[in-house]
Amino acid sequence: MISLLLAGACTSDFAYDQWPSNQGGGTAGALVGESGDGGAGPDDRAGRGGEPPGSKGGTGGKGGTAGNTSPHAGRAGGGEAGGNVVAGEGGAAGDSLGGEGPGGAGTGGAPPSILAAVPPMGWNSWNRFGGSVSEGVVRSTMDAMVSKGLRDVGYEYVNIDDTWQASSRDAEGKLRADPVRFPNGIEALADYAHERGLKLGIYSDRGTQTCSGRPGSYGSEELDAATFAEWGVDYLKYDNCHVPPGREGDEAMREDYTKMRDALVASGRPVVFSICAWWFSPWMPDVGQLWRTTGDIKDTWADVLAIVDRNGGDTSRYADASYGPPGLAPYASPGHFNDPDMLEVGNGGMTDAEYRSHFSLWAIMAAPLIAGNDVRIMDSATADILMNEDVIRVDQDPLGKQGRPISASTTLEVWAKQLAGDKTHAVVLFNRTASSADITVDFAELGFAAATARDLWSHEELGRLEGSYTATVPTHGVVMLRVVGE
Ligand code: GLA
Repeated sequence: MISLLLAGACTSDFAYDQWPSNQGGGTAGALVGESGDGGAGPDDRAGRGGEPPGSKGGTGGKGGTAGNTSPHAGRAGGGEAGGNVVAGEGGAAGDSLGGEGPGGAGTGGAPPSILAAVPPMGWNSWNRFGGSVSEGVVRSTMDAMVSKGLRDVGYEYVNIDDTWQASSRDAEGKLRADPVRFPNGIEALADYAHERGLKLGIYSDRGTQTCSGRPGSYGSEELDAATFAEWGVDYLKYDNCHVPPGREGDEAMREDYTKMRDALVASGRPVVFSICAWWFSPWMPDVGQLWRTTGDIKDTWADVLAIVDRNGGDTSRYADASYGPPGLAPYASPGHFNDPDMLEVGNGGMTDAEYRSHFSLWAIMAAPLIAGNDVRIMDSATADILMNEDVIRVDQDPLGKQGRPISASTTLEVWAKQLAGDKTHAVVLFNRTASSADITVDFAELGFAAATARDLWSHEELGRLEGSYTATVPTHGVVMLRVVGE
């Protein structure tokens, strides 16, 4: 088995905002690890995964667990050059996108901008539509994102997930859209998005087939990346099903994802690269802007808790202790984000309080905010959650830090995330118990004695607070604050 330790960062008194940073690519510095030995993969999380590397095969259905080629998580970061800057000429390292920068790298031009400097926001078809997504759904969703104000609060990418493809490639070997559900093809949808100030995302897979059995990109990476760029695609989610024999395991996975990343860079178009391998490995921040850390989300409270513990927890109840304290949070930085999967807000399986918690926790974890509901018919409670700009601002904070629990309690939790600005933090008081309860944030934990605070769900200024703040938090609910210390 693998053991991965964060050297030097294992003490419980380690301040939550003093972790090693992973700015600009390169793995967080203090990883010590061993290569996997090809044995059983780490359990993905309760109820899924845990199959040996190389087992594969997808599911067609919504929320089904994709075949799991669970990699071993034990490789130390390779120290690859990189980052995901949009740079000038000559940016060979990482996923630099040549040609965009005025003056080119090294010539003293403007500083490069970062692709996905803050967590991507948008919508994805899978959670709600699965294999029935169509161009009609995508177009009317884009219209709704504009008319209902989602675009204007930051939801930008409209991502078509699996089953957009025809069951076979064309005579030249190019991917093509399903002729029945996407008769006008993907380029027309990219145009439709761009005309409305939105961006288009698409989906493929590093294996021979996608998880739903459509053609995968294995062996066609350059052609597929060029095709996506030609169509005007802005975002690629790249899955991990139907991996051919010999490509199992972490090293082959790194190579395959890197190959597609390089092909996207070579296409000349800035394309956000979303790794979807349902497991974290330390090379991922060097290769993609975001990487799925968990299996497929389900629209249940139990599943949200399991994902939160895996993606955002620390040792006290971390579902898999392989990473040691403080979990995956140090890997987040501008251009690099842990992805605990798309949102289920509005899909009907949870209460509004639970959806508020789901959204608040994703925001404090600096997760991508990819809505997964039918935004065309969402009710006002769903709209109020998805479009809470106070909470969105926490997610989109330019420091790009991922918050984490700072409380000893693992049922009445206090989470904190450092924000841009002096002594500025987001705080979530999170009640996991079956009844309402008082939860207290002690400002000393954040490094100051008094603060002013704003409640990000009631949108009320709480004024100056001495020492601590206690709120009564409903069952499965949150109180979320923005706190500025003195
Ligand atoms: C996998 C992914 C899901 C979705 C499906 C599509 O299960 O993890 O997010 O993309 O494939 O088949």
